[in-house]
This record gives sequence, structure tokens and C-alpha cells, in this order.
Amino acid sequence: MNILLTGGAGYIGSHIAVALTDAGHRISIVDNFVNSVPEAIVRVEKITGKNIVLHKTDVTDREDLTRILHDEKPDCVIHCAGLKSVGESVKKPLKYYRNNINTTLSLLESMKETGIERLVFSSSATVYGEDNIPPFTETMPKGRCANPYGWTKWMQEQIIEDVVKQLKISTVILRYFNPTGAHKSGLIGEEPNGLPNNLMPYILQVADGRREHLTVFGDDYNTPDGTCRRDYIHVMDLAEAHLKAAEYVEKNKGLDVFNIGRGIPCSVLELVKAFEEASEQTIKYEIGSRRDGDVQDIWADTSKAEEVLGWQVHRGINEMCQDAWNWQKKNPAGYAK
Ligand code: WQD
Repeated sequence: MNILLTGGAGYIGSHIAVALTDAGHRISIVDNFVNSVPEAIVRVEKITGKNIVLHKTDVTDREDLTRILHDEKPDCVIHCAGLKSVGESVKKPLKYYRNNINTTLSLLESMKETGIERLVFSSSATVYGEDNIPPFTETMPKGRCANPYGWTKWMQEQIIEDVVKQLKISTVILRYFNPTGAHKSGLIGEEPNGLPNNLMPYILQVADGRREHLTVFGDDYNTPDGTCRRDYIHVMDLAEAHLKAAEYVEKNKGLDVFNIGRGIPCSVLELVKAFEEASEQTIKYEIGSRRDGDVQDIWADTSKAEEVLGWQVHRGINEMCQDAWNWQKKNPAGYAK
């Protein structure tokens, strides 16, 4: 298939580009590089040995996006473009609502104008309400999100659901849990802008000496070691779920939603320990206060994606930590030369 990837130069987008290209699909990418760099696509081409068409534009620029969709005529659009930090969204809610909602409105209007009929949307486990008891299933209550980031994802899902029904766009929504790790080559990985918001990138910067210690945001939660539990999933397992989703929308009409996680909880301190074992590095940490917007327990019931998409997780926590550390060691300054 000819697939257009919004946000394709980002951490998750670049890994999806590798998985789809390696599976023989033709990929074009739209990215404004607000949270990524063109070098990531050079690396994707190096890994896959294939050319990737790159369009530098902001997905909220509907006119430019419509021109690109008209020229590329994709069989399917995978929509990853968006701001994605829980912590930052609490501090800058207006930036998150303005950007994330507008990317989806602009894309749907462009798809309507150009008659594109298939969509895969990158959503998040943060759409599940705070009161859900894990493992989360797709039918559990959504909304009552704990942070603005989660609300923007939930609102985008609502907009998509109403529009694709009317426009008859075959759609899959993938609710990501915590993507972690990097491609085995160490050529692509997560490069946070400035101070890392997410746990693994922060651990990596402590491991390579750029940060003095990790601050654990609270150890007074009602969990075995007092720290929050998440469902960390290797970014390549997540990327491969998009391959299954693209194949699914090619064969099926309507809209469907799938949780994409490993289905296994891992606490902050358990991830620190797993990283120390995998990397043979010591991670100094201090216990700090809780972070606004955090939820104690989030992990997936992945049975629907396994049964309906035919998707399986193949990589565990140790491989995530090894591959993340491999990326960090090979790219101590990220993608900068
Ligand atoms: C994980 C845990 C923190 C940093 C992420 C993505 C979001 C979405 C959901 C896809 C929490 C703790 C963190 C630190 C810490 N993914 N922590 N010290 O908040 O689950 O959200 O997954 O849609 O895009 O951001 O991930 O890595 O920020 O935090 O103690 O320096 O690690 O409190 O319990 P989160 P995270």
C-alpha cells in the first residue's frame, strides 16, 4: 500500500516507517519537526535501504496538507502528529488543545476533500478514566482523563468517530500504552527536547552521566513498592501493530479500537532495576513528590488486538532496556552530528 504517515519523523513515527517499509509498503511522511529532526528519516532510509518521501509542513495547515494528500494519493493515512507529554500538557493545556485537536480537524477535512478512505489514529491509554481498574479493556469507561493530553486524545477520538461514520472512512484507533526502547540498530530512538518528560529517556540521561539522578515522582502509591505502574511496550512491537492496523482497514469497513500494550504492569522502580541489569549501569535516584496528572496504575488487556488484528508482542522489558541503552550509547547527543 501507499501509506502517508503524519508525524513520521518522531520517535514512534520513525519506528512505524521502518516496520511498514520493511513490509514492502511505500511511505510518505508529513512532519513539521517541532519535536523531531529530518535526520531521523535519513536513518530510516539507512535501516530500510528505501527512499522515504518527506513533506515538511504543519498538519494544521489544511491547504498544504490537502495539496500533499492530492499529490500522494495514499491508500491509508496513519495519524501520529501531535504533542504527547502528560507532564507538559498539565503546564501548557492551551498549546495541547490548540495543536492536537487542530491536527485531526485539518486531516479529516483534507481526507474529505481528496477522497482518502482509510485512517489509523494514534491514541493513548490516557483516555481511560481514572477510576478504571486494570487491565484496561476497550469497552471500559473513557473520558474523565487525568490530564489535558489524555483529554485531547479522547476529544480527537470523538471527532474521528463522528466524521468517519459520515464519510465512510475505514478507521482503526490504536490506544498506545507506554512506548519504550529503540530499533535494534541503534540508529533511531527517542530524542526528548530539553529536560526529558518520560521515564526511560530520563533514566538514559542518568546512565550516560548527563543527569545526576532520577527523581521518582512519589513512592506513596498503593502499589507493592509505592511507585506508579505502567505498561511499557517495545516501540517496535507498537510499530508492528500499525502494520496489522493498515492491513485491517484495507479489508474492513467501519471503525474499531484496540489497546496496544504488553499487558504486564511494571513500576517505576522495577523499570529502574530492569535497566540496571540490562545495561550494567547504576541509576541513582531520589524520591520526590507526586507529579500532577499521574495515575497510579495503567496497563492493558491486549486480547482484542491479538484476536482481531492477529497482532502479538514479541519483545520484553530486558530487550526494551538493552535497545534503549544501545541507542543512547550510539547517540549521546541524539540525532545531532
Ligand atoms: C511513567 C511513570 C511518572 C519521569 C506516557 C506518555 C504519553 C502516553 C502515555 C502514548 C509515571 C514516572 C517519569 C520521571 C518519574 N503515551 N516518572 N520520574 O506519564 O505514563 O505517559 O504514556 O500515548 O504520551 O507520556 O509516561 O514516562 O512520563 O511516566 O518518576 O523523571 O514514570 O510519574 O509514574 P506517562 P512517563
